Amino acid sequence: MEFRSLNTPRLDWTGDVLAIGAFEDAVELTDDLAQLDAKLSGTLQELIAETEFKGAVGSNAVTRVGGGSAIRKVILVGLGKPDTFKLDSLRHAAAAIAKLAKKERCKTVGISLPVWNNEPASTAGAIVEGIILALHQDRRFKSEVEDKSEPPETFDLLGLAGQEAAIAKAQAICNGAILARELVAAPANECTPITMAETAQEIATAPNFNIEILEREACQELGMGAFLGVAQASDLPPKFVHITYKPPGTPRRKLAIVGKGLTFDSGGLNIKGAGSGIETMKMDMGGAAATFGAAKAIAQLQPDVEVHFISAVTENMIGGNALHPGDILKASNGKTIEVNNTDAEGRLTLADALVYAEKLGVDAIVDLATLTGACVIALGNDIAGMWTPDDAIASQLTQASELAGEKLWRMPLEDKYFEGLKSPIADMKNTGPRGGGAITAALFLKQFVKETPWAHLDVAGPVWTDKDNSYNNSGATGFGVRTLVNWVLS
Ligand code: BES
Ligand code: MN
Ligand code: ZN
Repeated sequence: MEFRSLNTPRLDWTGDVLAIGAFEDAVELTDDLAQLDAKLSGTLQELIAETEFKGAVGSNAVTRVGGGSAIRKVILVGLGKPDTFKLDSLRHAAAAIAKLAKKERCKTVGISLPVWNNEPASTAGAIVEGIILALHQDRRFKSEVEDKSEPPETFDLLGLAGQEAAIAKAQAICNGAILARELVAAPANECTPITMAETAQEIATAPNFNIEILEREACQELGMGAFLGVAQASDLPPKFVHITYKPPGTPRRKLAIVGKGLTFDSGGLNIKGAGSGIETMKMDMGGAAATFGAAKAIAQLQPDVEVHFISAVTENMIGGNALHPGDILKASNGKTIEVNNTDAEGRLTLADALVYAEKLGVDAIVDLATLTGACVIALGNDIAGMWTPDDAIASQLTQASELAGEKLWRMPLEDKYFEGLKSPIADMKNTGPRGGGAITAALFLKQFVKETPWAHLDVAGPVWTDKDNSYNNSGATGFGVRTLVNWVLS
C-alpha cells in the first residue's frame, strides 16, 4: 500500500475512485464540486438524491461513473456535524473509504477530506492510520482466505502535499498497533512467555535499543516473589522483559511503560468457571502487547526521550505446584501479600514490575493492564480506566488519548477503599470486595510505587472487540499503542 500526499485539486484527480467527505446538512454542490459534478455528468447530484445522502456520521454512498470518465467511481462519506468533527472522525471516514474502495475492487483511491484544526500533519496521519488499521486482517491461522478482494494499491491524500513525514509516522504507529493486535490475537499455545521474549529481542535489534531478559533465577535474586508466585504452576519459564531505548545525547525525559503480560490466565486454583470467558484469556497480555507495540513504533520514530518498556511475562496456571489461595508472597519492595484469590494475578506480576521500573529513576511510569472485569462493568468495552494521583500525568495521557482516538476515563484512587485490602496476617491482601473492584486493584498497585509520577490504565475492555467497528475489525484492537506513542512524543 502506497500513500502519496498531493496538492492535486479533486477536480483534476484521475484514478479508480474519488472519495469526498461531507459535513451533515451541508451537502451542497458548490464551487469545485459543482464543476466536478458537471464533469461527471451530474453523477454526484444523482447519487445524493437517490441515496438521500445528508452527510450523517457513519453514512456513505458509492456509485459508478459512466461514460469513460477519468474516475471510475465516487464515494461520499458523511462526517457528521462540523462541531462534532474530531481528529478521530478522520480515522473513521478514512476507514469507511478504505473498506468501500476494497469492496469495489478499486486500485487507486483519491481522498478529499477536510483538514482538522488547521493541522495538515495530524490530518494526514489520522487518515493513514484509519486506512491501515481498517484494512489489516489477521490471516495467520487460516489456511484459506474467504475474502478474496485485494486492498487498494495507492491512496492519494488530496490537498495535503508535503506530509510525507506525517505519513511515515502514522505508518510506524500502525506497525506497532498491528504488532499489538497480532500478539493479543495469537492463542496461548502460540504466544507464550518464550515467544514474547523473542518478539522483544527482535524489537530491540533497532538502533539505540538494548534488552535485558531476566530469567527465573535473576528474578529470585531481585526478590520478585509476587511475580514468581504467579508463574510457579506454569510449565513455561517466566520472562521478565526490559527493553531500553536511549536516544543519543541527553534525553528530554525518561519514561517507563509497564504492561501486564499474562499469556494465559486460567485463574489459578481460583479457576475461572463457566461463563467467565476463560477461553478469551489469551488476551491477558494486552498491556504487554501495547507496550511492545509502542516500542516497535518508537524504534522507527527515534524520539529524544528515553523509554523503558517492561513486562513480567508468564502464565497463570494450575497444578500441584500452584499458589494455594491464602499463600503469602513477598514482593521485591519487601511487602507481603496474602493471596486470597489466585485470579487477581495481574496485580501481583505488576507489583514487581513497578518496583523494578521505579528503581530505574525515570520521570514517570505508566502501566497498562487487562486488570479487572470490574473495569469492564464500569466503563464498558470501549473505554479504559485511568487511575493516577498525579494531575499532570492525567492531563498528558488524556490529551494523548484524545488525539489517538482511544478513550480513557479518569477514575478515583479512593484511599479509604484500601481498607478492603487489609489482611490480618500480611501487609495486604491481593483482592478486596466485589464493589469497586477496579479501584482496589489500582490501590494495590499504588503500594508498589513510592514517589515517581505514575498512572495505571485498566484496558480489560478495549483491547478486544467482538464485532467489526470502523478501523477496528473484530478481534484484537491494538488499544494503547497510539496513546503511548503520543504520550512519549508529547
Ligand atoms: N485478567 C483478568 C481480568 C479480565 C476480566 C480481563 C475480563 C478481561 C476481561 C484478571 O486477572 C482477573 O481475573 N481479575 C479478576 C479479579 C478478581 C478475582 C478480584 C476479575 O476481574 O474478576
Ligand atoms: Mn485473573
Ligand atoms: Zn488476568
